Amino acid sequence: MRLSLRFIIPLMLALAGIAYAVAPLVDQLTLKWFVRDLDIRASLIANTIQEPLQEQLAAGKKLKIGGFFARITEDERLYAIGYCASDQATALVGRSMPKEIRCTDISRWEQPGDHLLHSTHGPLHVAVLPMASELSPTGKLVLVHDMSFVTRRSEETKRYVLFFFMGLAAVVSLITVIIAQLSWRGWMAGMRSLLRGEGLLRQPAAGATTELSEFKPIARDLQRLIRELEAETRARDESQITWTPETLRAMLHGELRGDDVIVVSNREPYIHQRRGDHIEVQRPASGLVTALEPIMRACSGTWIAHGSGSADREVVDRHDRIPVPPDKPAYQLRRVWLTAEEEAGYYYGFANEGLWPLCHIAHVRPTFRSGDWAHYVAVNRKFAKAVASEARTKAPIVLVQDYHFALLPKMIREELPDATIIAFWHIPWPNPESFAICPWGEDILKGMLGSSILGFHTQFHCNNFVDTVDRLLEARVDRESFTVSFGGKPTAVRRYPISIAWPPEPELMQKDVPTCRREIRQMNDLPAEHLVGVGVDRLDYTKGIVERFRAIERLLELNPEWIDRFTFIQIAAPTRSGIDEYRHHEEQVRAMAAHINGRFQRQGPPSIVLKVEHHDAREVYEHFRAADLCFVSSLHDGMNLVAKEFVAARDDERGVLILSQFTGAARELPEALIVSPYDADQCAAALHVALTMPAAEQRDRMRLMRGLVAEFNVFRWAGRMLLDAATMRRRSRLTRKGAGRVL
Ligand code: G6P
Repeated sequence: MRLSLRFIIPLMLALAGIAYAVAPLVDQLTLKWFVRDLDIRASLIANTIQEPLQEQLAAGKKLKIGGFFARITEDERLYAIGYCASDQATALVGRSMPKEIRCTDISRWEQPGDHLLHSTHGPLHVAVLPMASELSPTGKLVLVHDMSFVTRRSEETKRYVLFFFMGLAAVVSLITVIIAQLSWRGWMAGMRSLLRGEGLLRQPAAGATTELSEFKPIARDLQRLIRELEAETRARDESQITWTPETLRAMLHGELRGDDVIVVSNREPYIHQRRGDHIEVQRPASGLVTALEPIMRACSGTWIAHGSGSADREVVDRHDRIPVPPDKPAYQLRRVWLTAEEEAGYYYGFANEGLWPLCHIAHVRPTFRSGDWAHYVAVNRKFAKAVASEARTKAPIVLVQDYHFALLPKMIREELPDATIIAFWHIPWPNPESFAICPWGEDILKGMLGSSILGFHTQFHCNNFVDTVDRLLEARVDRESFTVSFGGKPTAVRRYPISIAWPPEPELMQKDVPTCRREIRQMNDLPAEHLVGVGVDRLDYTKGIVERFRAIERLLELNPEWIDRFTFIQIAAPTRSGIDEYRHHEEQVRAMAAHINGRFQRQGPPSIVLKVEHHDAREVYEHFRAADLCFVSSLHDGMNLVAKEFVAARDDERGVLILSQFTGAARELPEALIVSPYDADQCAAALHVALTMPAAEQRDRMRLMRGLVAEFNVFRWAGRMLLDAATMRRRSRLTRKGAGRVL
């Protein structure tokens, strides 16, 4: 419509201009015609009256001539008539002869072309015609015609010309707009299908598809334009920018124009717990929270999470919000409340007894119950409503986190069709055979495909996901671009390896390495020169803590010289203790530590110090800085941020990382000693190598690993996802507005 007006208005103006320019020409032309007509008419009248007039002149009947003239001027056009004798002595004129016409200067009206008189009576045409005869004296006949009818007709003609041009303008505009609209729609349909990657196909009546050849060059140009757009974004991303909170903030304001950012996760970043008469703020042991917290600080959005702390309700406002971090608020935490039944079914049941073991190859059978599923669906719906109520715009960027919310992307899409939804799956994705165990597998996949971008830590997990969709759903899978189209909506499946903030917060590195070494040894009654290994995990069966202890046992069997010289400190944060499998696992870990300590303890300190309790980030970093080695032996892990935190903590470039090959981190940190946690002998050998590794080699390995974590930090992780989201938003704006305008 806007486009049509933009075209019609100038066209109308141009035609009106032409009409105004043409009108005086029409005036001149019609005047010329009428003057010629009046000339002829005057000659005709003169010829007709010449004879009777001459007779009367010859007879000297001047009075009669007056009556004769009066009768002639009864003609409506003939205004006046007169006779001037050649001696100028005789002048016979009708009553109405204008005073400007006198016989004495009659000759001025005889000049060619000069026939018009603008008298007080209006415009007049004056014709002076000679009369010659033998009967009477020669003289001149003066015929004056009223020309006001010319002005009237000229006005009428001008009006007709104007109406004609206006009509012409309307018809031309209408035809042009109809044609333009029809071809615009065709072009737009072509452009949209092109941008959706559906190719440029036309559906003729017969149903067969043919290519729209006229689009081919435009399609090529458009595709090139999009490639350039993406390349530009990627170039910025892959270039040497150091990703910091500031870069991320600048990117958010530049690329995303400060758009609304909402994060949804089950676990909240700050938990308020009641301890007697005071409230304590706890930071949970969660890789997800570790990664997202610095991002939220940088982009000041809203984080929606389950309010699980005993004092959570006491501290929120009437909208269930609280600004966090408590000491220096930077973003809003919006808490969602769950009933005990909802928590049991959705969190403990479907998420942690079903999906968690399903996605991890840790040989624990998943349990699926229909009651749990019903709660999972209901809680996902509850969070979708919370997202809709927190969104400040119709098109926010929503970052949906993890396996607790597989259905949420689709539900958010229903509430906010224009939202950009980035779902990130923090745990591994199984192969299609394993995934098919889930009775609601199809619903899970459909829910996830509500996202615009779906992220995993590794390409391997992306491949598994795409294979699963290919196997279970009627969806279009494009392995070239790694895009899945389901129900006409594309989802880009991408690898975004998660990381940690770099550099670590200064508070975490406050104590220097010698102080940490000394204090941790003192705290655990270990001699000053005692070698220390460290493990930091949630007490989860996927972390391979039992396998880790078995490896230590094997080390002490094979290299007994380490007995009394080496102690492994295992920090194990209690987790999901409402689930039987976790309770059994804790018992198993405790029993294993006791067994090893019993088997190898002589006079000296224990081989394993097991601390089943929550440690805050500062304490964890002090252990990392105090240790000679860190052992991460997960049986299966999406990424494992403990490995990266250990590397970040070692600014002295010392310490050795032993890392399970089944973690995402192993793909990024090949300078670690990579092991299979199932191979106790190999792990024992790695422990021995670590304990004897020369300082120079430790430094070389640590330097490379630190370089990687510094560069591929969590700001890059979030930045890359958000840049892709920005490209996607730009692309959809392009599709909506009409790609033709860009060409
Ligand atoms: C893993 C999951 C997270 C979860 C964390 C802690 O890292 O990917 O989503 O928050 O474990 O588990 P919890 O059940 O205590 O939140």
